Amino acid sequence: MRSTRTRLRLTGALVALLLSAGVPAAQAVDDQPTLAELAQRHGRYFGSATDNPELTDEPYKAILGTEFDMITPGNGMKWYATEPQQGVFDFSKGDEIVNLARANHQRVRGHTLVWHSQLPGWLTSRDWTADELRAVLKKHIQTEVRHYKGKVYAWDVVNEAFNEDGTYRETIFYKTLGPGYIADALRWAHQADPKAKLYLNDYNVEGTGPKSDAYYRLVKELQAQGVPIHGFGMQAHLALQYGYPSTLEDNLRRFSRLGLDTALTEVDVRMYVPADDAELATQAQWYRDMTEACLAVRRCVGITLWDYTDRYSWIPAFFDGEGAALPWDEELRPKPAYFAIRDALQ
Ligand code: XIL
Repeated sequence: MRSTRTRLRLTGALVALLLSAGVPAAQAVDDQPTLAELAQRHGRYFGSATDNPELTDEPYKAILGTEFDMITPGNGMKWYATEPQQGVFDFSKGDEIVNLARANHQRVRGHTLVWHSQLPGWLTSRDWTADELRAVLKKHIQTEVRHYKGKVYAWDVVNEAFNEDGTYRETIFYKTLGPGYIADALRWAHQADPKAKLYLNDYNVEGTGPKSDAYYRLVKELQAQGVPIHGFGMQAHLALQYGYPSTLEDNLRRFSRLGLDTALTEVDVRMYVPADDAELATQAQWYRDMTEACLAVRRCVGITLWDYTDRYSWIPAFFDGEGAALPWDEELRPKPAYFAIRDALQ
């Protein structure tokens, strides 16, 4: 009998061969259903982030277009991209991805309206009074959400609002407007597209702890005030050296009990590279565990990978010496993590 590793390698080679022959990836992996199809059987979606520069890569696009049913623009909808000068909006990057998703019958998660990072220079390089910044924020949110009305299934309205200890992150928005900017942002987004699901989204909130507790309390407060809040997104940028967040399922469940949808929104599992087989096996187990945790909680609506292939992962550029974080390798061959996800969905 062939070892699992030999089989994986053969499958990878087969996929590469079929891809180069122009056969779509969804059928290429031994004619199995796609991750999206398997997730749909559970009433879930399975998604991937993507970014505009990658869309000239046809083999990459073939898998992106078939294996997934939810797409997140990795950068194209951020503030620096959509309002590069004050009051001058540019939706070309987001539109390109929305149009591709629509052509492939995929839904879109919008990312992100309010975040301290990747802001345009005009916004960060001067001081604003509270009234000025409130007007700037409202216009940004409402122009973008209106532009994508009916085309974006869910918005990460506010991204990364808390510090690790559960205190508010001292962003330009918090410092100028106070914590009420979060409720305002949600209300403004809801006015602009009443059907879009509105999320708060963060990293290091997969397990219970001070940071996810802060969100739990905030969601209750928002609900008590009648503020539109529909979902909580856990980015799930995991790293082998920090251990698996074993309270993930319980944490998903407590947010569900508040009446919220939950989702794993930016999943990757990084490690120091080069990765050995044991590390790739552990990574596969983590992807399996995350998938099973989401399936175990009714209101966990889906999982999105922060791109699907190591070819386009953000990790090597942001974490020195780390990588190999995604279920497909740099050659677009499925890794053990891919088969573990598929297994968990089956
Ligand atoms: C990352 C993108 O993937 C990179 O291309 C970009 O240079 C920096 O941002 N949390 C988030 C995402 O919410 O927006 C980040 O995306 C990754 C961390």
